Amino acid sequence: MEKYSNQTALLFILMLTSYLHLVVADSPPPYVPSDNILINCGSSGYSTGAQGRNWTGDVSSQFTPSGQFNRSEISIASAQGSVDKVPYLTARIFHSPFTYTIPVVSQGPKFIRLHFHPSSYQASDLDLSKAFLSVTVGPYLLLRNFSASLTAADLSSPSFIKEFCVNAVEDQRLNITFSPFPNTFNSDAFGFVNGIEVVSMPPNLYTRGPDFPLPLLGQSTPISVDNNSTALEMLYRLNVGGKHLSPMEDTGMFRAWDDDTPYIVGDAGQTPNLFDPYKDQLPRQRTQLHCS
Ligand SMILES: *[C@@H]1O[C@H](CO)[C@@H](O)[C@H](O)[C@H]1NC(C)=O
Ligand SMILES: *[C@@H]1O[C@H](CO)[C@@H](O)[C@H](O)[C@H]1NC(C)=O
Ligand SMILES: *[C@@H]1O[C@H](CO)[C@@H](O)[C@H](O)[C@H]1NC(C)=O
Ligand SMILES: *[C@@H]1O[C@H](CO)[C@@H](O)[C@H](O)[C@H]1NC(C)=O
Ligand SMILES: *[C@@H]1O[C@H](CO)[C@@H](O)[C@H](O)[C@H]1NC(C)=O
Ligand SMILES: *[C@@H]1O[C@H](CO)[C@@H](O)[C@H](O)[C@H]1NC(C)=O
Repeated sequence: MEKYSNQTALLFILMLTSYLHLVVADSPPPYVPSDNILINCGSSGYSTGAQGRNWTGDVSSQFTPSGQFNRSEISIASAQGSVDKVPYLTARIFHSPFTYTIPVVSQGPKFIRLHFHPSSYQASDLDLSKAFLSVTVGPYLLLRNFSASLTAADLSSPSFIKEFCVNAVEDQRLNITFSPFPNTFNSDAFGFVNGIEVVSMPPNLYTRGPDFPLPLLGQSTPISVDNNSTALEMLYRLNVGGKHLSPMEDTGMFRAWDDDTPYIVGDAGQTPNLFDPYKDQLPRQRTQLHCS
């Protein structure tokens, strides 16, 4: 039944920082990613996102193999609502596994950000609340039986981003495969995605290989993170003592940082109020890391 024989531990990272990163407008960011690829699924040509970033449509693009178009369709959201037009107005809806092959210029760790806007789409009578999907990147299983609709309802947000870190090792290509769940022959299951980002990061940002174990929140034993077999998922990224920072205000990696105020219970210095969305989902391999 389980299609993905996946031996890798998917770690869920709790990113906290005690550094206040403020980028002065007009100065070049401290880090310029060698890979900065933005795919606007379900559209063609180039389009500029709300923050001035340049998105490439996936229709007839270098990222999508043409033979697979028969089991996927592209569609436009019926109502734009309060979401950014790029990449959320268009989607690719797939009925069988669909692989994006993304050339990266360098090996090493990459951010993968998946953008979702569960809405009703024109030219499709599919009920997107019935979309369940899995996502794999090489050996990593990033999402399984994932419902964008349930997630958006949980977040009370019409659109959201799932962010992961994976290591690019082989042949300088990342294959990102989206599959409907369950992915069985003749199943009427389908999934969709609105946008994909691949952005590189400095090699030792979050992990430094097995020789440098990372401390675990609330536990005395650190965890050893193998370079090639461990993916990380972003749960929280708090700008401790600072305000919300948009991707353009980051140090060049286009990360969004949240204001930490809602997470503080009582006076400063007391236990942060962190909600763990995975605590009821057993058995999932889950670990929280504290990186600063
Ligand atoms: C977006 O990127 C493409 C390819 O690099 C380039 O041809 C195009 O001019 C860019 N568009 C904008 C608005 O920067
Ligand atoms: C999709 O295309 C592949 C070959 O490119 C073919 O084998 C398959 O039967 C097609 N599926 C449908 C539903 O047309
Ligand atoms: C998939 O997720 C749905 C909604 O959370 C759940 O009801 C269902 O049991 C899950 N299916 C499997 C096979 O895990
Ligand atoms: C990605 O897919 C291409 C085409 O199927 C394949 O040649 C390549 O080996 C794959 N690369 C990785 C890293 O899986
Ligand atoms: C693991 O990755 C780190 C950082 O990229 C690198 O310094 C180290 O040499 C790597 N170790 C192995 C065993 O590949
Ligand atoms: C990681 O993968 C690279 C390339 O496949 C390999 O050279 C290296 O030995 C691997 N490192 C570990 C720690 O397995």
